[in-house]
Amino acid sequence: MFKQLEKINERPEPFQFYTASDLWTDEHTSKQMLSFHLNESIDVSSRNAEFMDRSVKWIASEFKIGRGSRIADFGCGPGLYAARLAKRGASVTGIDFSKRSIEYAKEAAAREQLNISYVNQNYLEFETKERFDLVLMIFCDLCALSPTQRKGILSRFHKILKPGGAVLLDVYSMSAFEQKEEAATYEVNQLDGFWSPNKYYGFLNTFKYDKEKIVLDKYTIIEPERIRQVYNWFQYFAPEDLEREFVEAGFFVKELYSDVAGTPYDRRSNEFAVIANKT
Ligand SMILES: C[S@@+](CC[C@H](N)C(=O)[O-])C[C@H]1O[C@@H](n2cnc3c(N)ncnc32)[C@H](O)[C@@H]1O
Repeated sequence: MFKQLEKINERPEPFQFYTASDLWTDEHTSKQMLSFHLNESIDVSSRNAEFMDRSVKWIASEFKIGRGSRIADFGCGPGLYAARLAKRGASVTGIDFSKRSIEYAKEAAAREQLNISYVNQNYLEFETKERFDLVLMIFCDLCALSPTQRKGILSRFHKILKPGGAVLLDVYSMSAFEQKEEAATYEVNQLDGFWSPNKYYGFLNTFKYDKEKIVLDKYTIIEPERIRQVYNWFQYFAPEDLEREFVEAGFFVKELYSDVAGTPYDRRSNEFAVIANKT
């Protein structure tokens, strides 16, 4: 028991484990995630519907989206942005490793006859000969990736963009990092049964890495027959650190905003968005 508790409370090295698929593609959790995406009034998995409408309206005007625009949406989920953008004439490629979300997205696109191609794949491995005007990665997905993974994906974005093409993505800010605190909690059927349809005990250890500006939510889920750990990493960014990563990957940062709906940049905002152009 004591040894087990020591293991639960152990702090891993930053980004030591990558378990994103346990969170998003597991048979049970992917069902919960899809229902969060589709709940139009909450900001879980996807932001609320009113925000997405506003965001897509802004994206369409900022990037002059219309017939002939080619957009790649990394971590597209059930295609809530992809569908809105396709309705404005864009041809969209959506990439997501959740089979459940991609199946939902494909059915919706077929029903509405939208020009979207969905790819059920780990976006860290996505390859294509197509070239795009715009790459999206929305709802702070970049923050879940290690420095090495971020380097890889930014160079992948660079490769698949047309000359002068742009990336729009959002990240967590230093202001949000300052509000985070370490904690350890445990709960029966933690998060209302999110992790399993069966009875389980869930431990949540939140670790803060001050030097690296990272927070880890480490979940330990204990069922009668199995124990698993799910590591949810959050990299927080100062604008200059994000800019450095983009510049190293061959981009220049054109503009910062407080969100992907074009709200003017404010350093107090918990998130911020960036437009980076391929040089
Ligand atoms: C926070 S959700 C955001 C969904 C969408 N961008 C939105 O805002 O509505 C993150 C999405 O990225 C997907 N995802 C996370 N890691 C991934 C990976 N390595 N490869 C492909 N998809 C991934 C998840 O399945 C999920 O649909």
